[in-house]
Amino acid sequence: MRARLLDAGYTTERIEETLGSGRISFAAADLAVHERRLEAGEPFSTAVRLFLLGAELAAADAEVAFDVEELLRTGWLEASGDGVHATLKLVPHGDLLLASDRDDDSVDAQWVAGIHPPSVTLAKLTVRRPVARALDTGTGNGIQALLASRHARAVTATDVNPRALAFGRLNAGLNGVENLELREGSYFEPVEGERFDLLTCNPPYVISPERRFAYRDSGLAGDTVSRVVVEQASELLEEGGFAHVLVSWAHPPGDWWSPLEPWVEGRGCDAWLLYFGSDDPVTHASEWLKPVARDDPAAFAERLDAWLDYLRGLGIEAIGHGAVILRRRNGSRNWTRRDRVNLERLEQASEHILRVFETQDYLESLDDERGLLDETFALVEQHHLEETRRRTELEGTVLSLDEGLGFRTALDVHTAELVPLLDGTRPLRDVLAQLAVGDAKRFESAALPAVRRLLELGFLARASSA
Ligand SMILES: C[S@@+](CC[C@H](N)C(=O)[O-])C[C@H]1O[C@@H](n2cnc3c(N)ncnc32)[C@H](O)[C@@H]1O
Repeated sequence: MRARLLDAGYTTERIEETLGSGRISFAAADLAVHERRLEAGEPFSTAVRLFLLGAELAAADAEVAFDVEELLRTGWLEASGDGVHATLKLVPHGDLLLASDRDDDSVDAQWVAGIHPPSVTLAKLTVRRPVARALDTGTGNGIQALLASRHARAVTATDVNPRALAFGRLNAGLNGVENLELREGSYFEPVEGERFDLLTCNPPYVISPERRFAYRDSGLAGDTVSRVVVEQASELLEEGGFAHVLVSWAHPPGDWWSPLEPWVEGRGCDAWLLYFGSDDPVTHASEWLKPVARDDPAAFAERLDAWLDYLRGLGIEAIGHGAVILRRRNGSRNWTRRDRVNLERLEQASEHILRVFETQDYLESLDDERGLLDETFALVEQHHLEETRRRTELEGTVLSLDEGLGFRTALDVHTAELVPLLDGTRPLRDVLAQLAVGDAKRFESAALPAVRRLLELGFLARASSA
């Protein structure tokens, strides 16, 4: 099957080139538009129609790319009306091929979702070092587990939904992955007493009054599922191991971090809290109920009220979305830090995250900010500086990271002059001496907080570690 699809040119790039990049919509009206971008009687278009868009094709048309009789026998296709349709969805992700449930409602609570934006966010946030054991909890179609199988000797994946485990098994086969073990059970129950070097979890974190879908509704009150997964994940980590958990939580408006901090304190882990944004209750409920709004406006209004009553009952005013990254570090004073992330700028972030953890350890080890003066720093290569000018007058400078979490930060005039000189060749003290205007000591003291912030955000690395 894999060979057939690759022969047909069924790749992410070609799909995006043909249907447009960004999220593909499977709403009926959009399907009709996608259909018109596809050529007739050609293998790639046939694969897209059958396995991405879920269309029904005449057997003769499907035959252009596939041995229809064989696929009917092996269950990839099913006869329907005068033609055939695929029994599942197949989507390429990089060089993986991932099977999941079709976008129809023939399966209910056990419906196994395909690759969604949060799946990609978690994949980008995962630290990719060679490790012995990885765990993916709530594996769904298995995407995180399959990605981990490339750099972990052994991967364990758990899910409470047997249908998800069946897809996980199928996807391991489709991608030739042999170091994945699937276990049925709730969250960490199937791995009790075991320890891992890497943990990923994209739980059913949606704060909802329903228990309709395994992938969305945990059945636990409010944000309990996110908290419990974060708390338990910390206990399963080997020393130095990383856990990455997507979370959603209730918070007072304007203060997204306070409710999260107790989840990670006192657990023997350093923690990085990443904040993607928040929704008010009406936005939250209406976004999740969007498919109902399209299909049945009366039911939508009723369910919207039920969601809002539920949120009001819990006193929820704002719902945050983000991720928690933990690293086990026993026997030391652990740190917690927090940052906002613009998901539109997020790229593969493994290296950036490792750099930030290492730098944060270094910063925590300094008795005094002046210790920075003896160190040699280098600006990371993947960055760019933007200057805005009014006529010839410089108005502002923004430094952007073109990798990882894609941070952007405004620089004052002095820091903008300093940054290009941090090239890893001499200690900060010497660089500042070159730039100092007036009292050198005062100039140094003013520069240190800016340098510290650039280190915290991962724009600068210690030359020794680079
Ligand atoms: C949002 S999906 C994530 C799927 C996939 N890991 C990804 O990143 O796209 C959540 C998954 O958690 C599973 N799940 C729900 N309740 C669970 C539980 N109590 N224990 C383990 N997994 C559970 C669902 O079946 C679903 O596969």
